[in-house]
Amino acid sequence: MVKYIVFEITGKCNLKCKYCYNSKYNTKEFQNTELSKEKVLEILNEAKNLGFELSAFSGGEPFIREDLMEIVEKSPLPVSILTNGELITEEQMKVLSKLKHIKELRFSLDGFDSHNKVRVNSDYKRVLEKIKIAKKLNIYTSINTLITSFNIDEIIKLYELIKNNFYGVMWRLDVPIISGRCVSNKDNLSVNKDKLFKKLKELILLYMKEKPKLKIIIADIFKSSLVTKGFYKHTLKEHPCDYALGSVTVRPNGDISFCPSLGIAFGNVKDKTLKEAMNGKEFKQFRKMKIEDVKPCQKCKYLYICGTGCRADAYTLDQDLEGKDPSACEHFHYFEKYIVPLLPENIQEQFDSIVNKT
Ligand SMILES: C[S@@+](CC[C@H](N)C(=O)[O-])C[C@H]1O[C@@H](n2cnc3c(N)ncnc32)[C@H](O)[C@@H]1O
Ligand code: SF4
Ligand code: SF4
Repeated sequence: MVKYIVFEITGKCNLKCKYCYNSKYNTKEFQNTELSKEKVLEILNEAKNLGFELSAFSGGEPFIREDLMEIVEKSPLPVSILTNGELITEEQMKVLSKLKHIKELRFSLDGFDSHNKVRVNSDYKRVLEKIKIAKKLNIYTSINTLITSFNIDEIIKLYELIKNNFYGVMWRLDVPIISGRCVSNKDNLSVNKDKLFKKLKELILLYMKEKPKLKIIIADIFKSSLVTKGFYKHTLKEHPCDYALGSVTVRPNGDISFCPSLGIAFGNVKDKTLKEAMNGKEFKQFRKMKIEDVKPCQKCKYLYICGTGCRADAYTLDQDLEGKDPSACEHFHYFEKYIVPLLPENIQEQFDSIVNKT
């Protein structure tokens, strides 16, 4: 597992996506709390010395910061950047394409008209143009899509577009976590689970039949390697969360957490070194957690496949870091019904043997 540091390098944003989990940082309260360029570079250098292997820049919108390119150019770690694609220019992409340590440019694209409706102030055509330029410049490109009621009926059309135009990209699909602006919009955004899984089934069937040069990851539901390598069987002594094995997220105000989805501050790097901030009692305690510590999951038949789900979801939905993940519980029922039967026979047998043993 690669150890990486995610920098939410600004809270500011030019868009107002209806689901944005980080919306609170795009407010007056947080406007002047951003870390300086010098501090960001200092932490990146320290992170390298601490054995981190990758840095990712997110936000807010990273390209709103005028010093982003300078930070990225000077980063001692390989870099991945997440962007809404609206502000990044062709000139910036030309510079990025020449930097060996730029590993990935990840664009958020949710569909066609649905994109414009849910990613308020964005235009999918503009984002598509930027993705085309990145591909032409041979930058490793990936696309993030959040599935909501807005775009569920455009997902197959989006698959066709990506497949036909963006050879070799990585397409990540996810469902929103209920945090930030997503809390007040959740009823509008949510998709009936039966409808969601039927659509995913349609998408996965097409993907398995056509075998396009495109890697797909759908939340914890499907990834390309599932068809060839099968399921990973968790052990009880493992940590429930891959992030906890070494990754860290620095929020726009310097707070640190394990991952972008977890809204708990375990420390702050503003007046401390990264090592000092990561030395807090709660941070260390969370790192020690094991799958066997998540008591409500121990008798679940899906435990060794699910691994207790996502800690951020458990905390957000039930305010319990050591509780089950209600969204994983709901998903697994549909996963078994709709997705497992699509997998090769030997992988289905593997699923049965793991699930029935428990
Ligand atoms: C917070 S944004 C920051 C980078 C940039 N502004 C962008 O939109 O790509 C990073 C990613 O998180 C996704 N995201 C936003 N709100 C989310 C939520 N509630 N649940 C899951 N992902 C979310 C966005 O779609 C985007 O792909
Ligand atoms: S998801 Fe990204 S583009 Fe949308 S409001 Fe949040 S930070 Fe801005
Ligand atoms: S499906 Fe639910 S109860 Fe079962 S292991 Fe996953 S989170 Fe725990």
